[in-house]
Amino acid sequence: MKVLGIYGSPRPGGNSDLLLDRALEGANAAGAEVERIYVRDLKISGCLECGGCDETGACVIADEMEAVYPRLREAEIIFMAAPMFFYGVPAQLKALVDRSQALWSGRRLEKTLEQRQRYDHGRGYFIGVGATRGKTLFDGSKMMAKYFYEALDKSYAGGLFYTAVEKKGHIRDHAQALQEAYDLGRKAVLGVRP
Ligand SMILES: Cc1cc2nc3c(=O)[nH]c(=O)nc-3n(C[C@H](O)[C@H](O)[C@H](O)COP(=O)(O)O)c2cc1C
Repeated sequence: MKVLGIYGSPRPGGNSDLLLDRALEGANAAGAEVERIYVRDLKISGCLECGGCDETGACVIADEMEAVYPRLREAEIIFMAAPMFFYGVPAQLKALVDRSQALWSGRRLEKTLEQRQRYDHGRGYFIGVGATRGKTLFDGSKMMAKYFYEALDKSYAGGLFYTAVEKKGHIRDHAQALQEAYDLGRKAVLGVRP
């Protein structure tokens, strides 16, 4: 089984990175083949809303997102991790998500209305961290994750969300969170509902 981890933070070795590392370790221990995308290392421009993909299912922009599309399609399970920036995800990750509109358009071109009500190509999870304790901190990002995964023909299967985590590496003080991330990765691959 192919598992893809999307690292959404601009800060290398930060809290969401550490949690995603653990989730992927769990997935690997359960027998998955694991790949990683570090969004901070890629040059991905935002969607132009030009309508090009409505006609073809392909994006007109030639940049490093081209290498990401096949990996999004091929993975059976995706884990995406990110810090909250102003109650959303960092702009670099949001650009990748917005560019998945091409996959959304492709789905509309290839499938009937009935087929589009099913999401047959796997599952996606989201791991979020933030500094505050706001009750609604992850609401917008959870919706974003759901529709991102649906564009990829995957169903959103939930995730892990930690508040009051701020400094780089702070999450290391939360052994339980790191264990939960490992368990999420393992259980997702084994097909056990986390
Ligand atoms: C530009 C910016 C915006 C932020 N906005 C929020 C926010 O709206 N809510 C919040 O709880 N934390 C916010 N934070 C704090 C980060 O989410 C927090 O430090 C997180 O642990 C960073 O995770 P990382 O190490 O994976 O990058 C913000 C941080 C930055 C740099």
